Amino acid sequence: MYDVEKIRQDFPILSRQVNGKPLVYLDNGASAQKPKIVIDTISTFYSNEYANVHRGLHYLSNLATDKFEAVRGKIRTFVNAAKEEEILYTSGTTEAFNLVSYAWGVPNLKAGDEIILSVMEHHANIVPWHFLRERHGVVLKWIEPDANGDIDPQKVIDAIGPKTKMIAMTHMSNVLGTVVDVKTICHEARRKGVVTVIDGSQSSVHMKVDVQDMDCDFFAITGHKLYGPSGSGALYARSERMAEMRPFMGGGDMIREVGRDVITYNDPPHKFEAGTPGIAQIIGLGAAIDYMQGIGMDAIAKHERELRDHATEKLGALNWLNIQGQSATKGAIFSFTMNGAAHPHDISTVLDQRGIAVRAGHHCAQPLMDHLSVSATTRASMGLYNTIQEVDSLVDGLHLCHEFFG
Ligand SMILES: Cc1ncc(COP(=O)(O)O)c(C=O)c1O
Repeated sequence: MYDVEKIRQDFPILSRQVNGKPLVYLDNGASAQKPKIVIDTISTFYSNEYANVHRGLHYLSNLATDKFEAVRGKIRTFVNAAKEEEILYTSGTTEAFNLVSYAWGVPNLKAGDEIILSVMEHHANIVPWHFLRERHGVVLKWIEPDANGDIDPQKVIDAIGPKTKMIAMTHMSNVLGTVVDVKTICHEARRKGVVTVIDGSQSSVHMKVDVQDMDCDFFAITGHKLYGPSGSGALYARSERMAEMRPFMGGGDMIREVGRDVITYNDPPHKFEAGTPGIAQIIGLGAAIDYMQGIGMDAIAKHERELRDHATEKLGALNWLNIQGQSATKGAIFSFTMNGAAHPHDISTVLDQRGIAVRAGHHCAQPLMDHLSVSATTRASMGLYNTIQEVDSLVDGLHLCHEFFG
């Protein structure tokens, strides 16, 4: 039995008030709040266990290294990678895709090669490929979602041509909530020798992920959306792809030996992890993953489906609200505009006065905004601690906005 009230007690911030009203936090797509176990784990680490990792021989350094490295195994299990060495620590998804672009893209792609991507990608899964276009003549081929916000996998597969080398695709849209059938795309891409880069920033928060079953080459997750610290994340990189990658950043930890005229590199994954990492952040991410798995990804998904169904019914009944994305696969992410003059920023400000936190803007998805012919939307995105009552508060707040601006 999913006890959402008990879960809420794990998150200290949820008991605070904002503008004199109980906080209703519906901005989880941007970043999620942190349970006490994550906060305490970081606090304990800094209070009692802190030292730099990998390069010390003293007690604290070994302790910190053990705790830091243990998270690799947790992430491996979380995404079901075959090997721990296939998990690279990152500061988040943005770093992950820049790493793939620089470390795999630059040495393996040449002018005229094609990358297929959807217009519903987050900028983090667009801009690094634009770098390859601008600097190396790689061609970007765009796939559009249909009117419901679905990406037909066959459309992606049909777009694969002799020059296609890579597909970059979100597993779950941060604007529409659509879950893309990346498994079908990745299986066919592998058969055709095309590398797949999947953005798991949103999906990994809301459902079980299995990169082996998905058959992707790269899969990125980000800690701050997973109820963990900001500045933490991971990239799953299939071993064969990692063998084709050159180092990304240079510095400590990623080398074996440095001389005046020679350099040799550490083994993966360390080869791609230069400098002092976000040690406490990664250890905090480990605590967040344990926390989520303690509740169970299936239980979280079921709870969020209930929120989605309730919000679909209640928001759908507002005939002055235009909800973007009506996919049957949709998660509990609702982006909308309001008929009349209300700008998404105004809606967000009115809701904020009632303690309701939502996001307004282009959500780092400008090609999608263009495709939808809107400059911005208001987005309410739900997480494991949200309640049906909070969805109702959002609906009440929107009524107020409509009266006010309408
Ligand atoms: C789908 C998606 N991809 C990528 C990102 C960027 O992730 P990060 O903040 O870890 O760089 C986000 C964050 O908003 C996102 O929603």
